[in-house]
Amino acid sequence: MNYSFKQLHLFELELTHTTCEKIVLPKGYKGLAAFHKYWGKKPIECLAFLIENLTEKGDIVVDPFLGSGLVAREAAIRQRRFIGIDINPVAVELSNLLVDLPNPTLLKEAIYQVEKSVKCDIYKTYLLEDNKIATHYLWNENELNSVWHLSPRRNESEKRLPTNHDYKIFKQFEGYKPQIPRPIKLFQNSRINTNESLTLKDLFTGRALHNIDLLLDAIHKQPDTIKSALLLSLTSASGQMSNMVFAITGRGKTKSQPTNKIEVGSWVIGYWRPKLHFEINVWNCFIKRANNLLKSIEEDEFQKCYHVSKKLEDVIHDKADVAIIQGDNRKVLNNCPDETISLILTDPPHSDRIPYLELSEMWNSLINKEPDFSNEIVVSNARNRSKDKKLYINEMTDFMQTVTRILKPSGILALFFNARDDASWKFLKQVIPYSDKLQFQGLFPMNYSANSVVQDNRKGGLKNDFVLIYQKPGNEDKTKLHFLESLPNWSKEIPSIPSK
Ligand SMILES: C[S@@+](CC[C@H](N)C(=O)[O-])C[C@H]1O[C@@H](n2cnc3c(N)ncnc32)[C@H](O)[C@@H]1O
Repeated sequence: MNYSFKQLHLFELELTHTTCEKIVLPKGYKGLAAFHKYWGKKPIECLAFLIENLTEKGDIVVDPFLGSGLVAREAAIRQRRFIGIDINPVAVELSNLLVDLPNPTLLKEAIYQVEKSVKCDIYKTYLLEDNKIATHYLWNENELNSVWHLSPRRNESEKRLPTNHDYKIFKQFEGYKPQIPRPIKLFQNSRINTNESLTLKDLFTGRALHNIDLLLDAIHKQPDTIKSALLLSLTSASGQMSNMVFAITGRGKTKSQPTNKIEVGSWVIGYWRPKLHFEINVWNCFIKRANNLLKSIEEDEFQKCYHVSKKLEDVIHDKADVAIIQGDNRKVLNNCPDETISLILTDPPHSDRIPYLELSEMWNSLINKEPDFSNEIVVSNARNRSKDKKLYINEMTDFMQTVTRILKPSGILALFFNARDDASWKFLKQVIPYSDKLQFQGLFPMNYSANSVVQDNRKGGLKNDFVLIYQKPGNEDKTKLHFLESLPNWSKEIPSIPSK
């Protein structure tokens, strides 16, 4: 059952106010915020702080580059109305999940049904000669180095040398063609190690693809309200199911004490297939993510039902609390009336840092969704995408104009941004001198928790992102901004990067 925004007051929970200290020392992602590996997540504390201090209950907050949906969740639990847009199908599925949590009892039952129908068949594909089940295979290219299974104490792995039996089982699936996921379509992009002819068979073993098909088939038989949560658990686990899990070798307690110990790495970003890599039991990867999701939902203190729509108009006319929309934000926001939005809190792609759609292709293929590559705002190294810096700057400049139109006269744009070159900062600097456009008020550097991965895998990677604050021209009311000015390292200057 859906409750309207106003009815939600009945369930109002007392949220503790997010203080400056909390944004300076963020705790890192836990529970639902940690569930999926979608890239570019911003610290929750910072999102909460800006929503609490820049808006009132019932105001409309918009995130037109929504990504994993954390802004949607933080706005909804603070009873702001919310509109989120993303061009990436998997991001939209994930955002919907965060604001429209499945019933935990139904999810538990569906996980049980999937387990009943496929776990046994999947385990058969990892059977060892003595009927134990392999958890990991360590491969060096096409050669098996070792086979791992759980020890009777279950909290550690036993390792053994491979036998002919292990090769024989593996070979049964060598020519396996995936049946349910759609083929991936990628571009030549050395930055993320892809080319046009890359297929799922390059990323996974035949055995993994066979088991993914079994899982997908069982998931698609579950009730519609639960399916998406299970598919997202599968996408979230898919990196660990692939041939992209590297082996961490020689890590001693100190640099001078290397060991022979081999640890299991984790897939983070890009499509690199390391020579020395693990093949991990697909069921184990899936059930870990699905159970994590179930636990996070059961423990979630804000388990509420928001009225979630797919139409922006429903939020504008107060018929829904939240709208999550898949599409190009420039087209979607054409339907947004002038001067209606109190806060735009958003994290656009930062120039060439992360090509989201190319990287999400593995996930979108598993959930059988087609992304719209042509309208993505991004700088991509893939030449035949023609997504260069000049186009990016033009598109972001247009975006800033739309923002100016839809913000209320008292509205604020809080933009998360960073880029390693001056050209990508340029469009922001161009906005400032013109009084008819948004006016830059200042920025502060955003802190990540020590264990957050700031995903940038190139030399000179950026460690900090910034929050840039803009107001509409003519708005002399600076009261909302006072608390920002007291933040450590608040600055009125946009960073300048020397050209190389
Ligand atoms: C930096 S990410 C946002 C990450 C987000 N902060 C999070 O917590 O996950 C930028 C997002 O913009 C989306 N995007 C790129 N071009 C878009 C467009 N034209 N319309 C809507 N979304 C777009 C990408 O799919 C990506 O999810």
